[in-house]
Amino acid sequence: MQDQAGRVAAIVERFRGVEGAALPILHAVQEALGYVPAESVPMIAAALNRSRAEIHGIVTFYHDFRDKPAGRHLVRVCRAEACKSMGSDQVAQGFEQALGIRLGETSPDGAVTLEPVYCLGLCATAPNAMVDGKLSGRLDGTKAAHLAAGLQP
Ligand code: FES
Repeated sequence: MQDQAGRVAAIVERFRGVEGAALPILHAVQEALGYVPAESVPMIAAALNRSRAEIHGIVTFYHDFRDKPAGRHLVRVCRAEACKSMGSDQVAQGFEQALGIRLGETSPDGAVTLEPVYCLGLCATAPNAMVDGKLSGRLDGTKAAHLAAGLQP
């Protein structure tokens, strides 16, 4: 099995000479490793002839990218307009209170990552969340807390 740096190097190589490769490379790294490690930024920057600050800026600007590994469970609360207007604040609070972490955090034991997402593509059932890849719609704070309670540590 390739180490992390080797896997990033292979991804960078795959996109060598491709115009506008920053986002595709970062997506590929996140898909391969589950996050974009800070140590990979210099290698990606060098390959693209961009500064480290630019690449770091992309990673932190886009909500899709994570700069730390996710927890064993991933809870994504939709914060886009349709869900917001239907009460996603209460859903987020329900998860936050039940899990003891805020949106954007991972529990200290690494069990759960709670993160915002901007449209899950099923606005008709707003407000929505996705728990370990499974979509739940028409949520409220109580249902969110219930979903959180069902997660195994
Ligand atoms: S806005 Fe939440 S699923 Fe589209």
